[in-house]
Amino acid sequence: MSSSRAPPLHVKREDSDSEPDSTGWSASQYNKNAHFVYSSPFVAPVLELLGARPGESVLDLGCGSAEVSLDIERIVTQATGAKAQQNGLRHAFVCDAHNLGVPDEIAVMIGGKFDVVFSNATLHWCKRDPLAVLQGVSRVLKPDGRFVAEMGGFMNCIGVRSALYSAIRARGHDPAAYDPWYFPSMEDYVKLLVTVGFEPTHMSITPRITPLPTGLYEWLRLFVRNSFLHRIMGEVVENCRVDCQDATGNWAMTYMRLRFSAVLKSK
Ligand SMILES: C[S@@+](CC[C@H](N)C(=O)[O-])C[C@H]1O[C@@H](n2cnc3c(N)ncnc32)[C@H](O)[C@@H]1O
Repeated sequence: MSSSRAPPLHVKREDSDSEPDSTGWSASQYNKNAHFVYSSPFVAPVLELLGARPGESVLDLGCGSAEVSLDIERIVTQATGAKAQQNGLRHAFVCDAHNLGVPDEIAVMIGGKFDVVFSNATLHWCKRDPLAVLQGVSRVLKPDGRFVAEMGGFMNCIGVRSALYSAIRARGHDPAAYDPWYFPSMEDYVKLLVTVGFEPTHMSITPRITPLPTGLYEWLRLFVRNSFLHRIMGEVVENCRVDCQDATGNWAMTYMRLRFSAVLKSK
């Protein structure tokens, strides 16, 4: 069977030590299995590119549990976070990145729009309509405002993603419909940025070997969340073992980090 849209095949989750939200997102599972996402060495390059300055208003789009937003806040004094669900950041709001706007109470605090939109490890989750995400960013930014972000890019999760595709295809489903990720190339993303009125000022793609502290199975469990993909994870892990597990049993995978900054051109 092949379909262009994934049927809603939800299964009961196994975790008992976390409270996943309606999308299956669990902050505690994320903190346990993927804390490297916001670890200092991994976020240092994009924070350097950001170059936050005291007094700037910065929106951290997809701020997760806000560790990176708080780092930024130490420099700018006040950062705002936005994500699919609430978190503990002082100034935060819930949003769908595909339809971004500034809530009135935040707009009052920042004088209407943000100086900077920042985002780490989020944009590749916004597969539905990447152009709409950029249009939203342009709506909430001041003219000449900066957009600085890092996301998974072309060839991210190479090997693991193909193993997922094979296992899904073998069960008669269309893998693309279940794939939650959008991993653009530099060229593709430049085109989108320019279409929306941004001028890219930096664009790079960098391979990064990423150790998986709790192994590939737990990593998959975190990211495939509450879909039927739970049932194929064992097979995917076995197929990836040869590439992703070393002789001492440690797991790692290859991430490709697409990093960019762009300026919103004044009209
Ligand atoms: C891997 S986490 C990264 C969190 C954080 N930026 C960090 O560096 O730790 C991805 C984040 O993107 C958010 N997210 C995913 N899709 C989203 C969407 N459509 N709209 C808003 N937030 C979204 C999730 O809620 C989560 O907070």
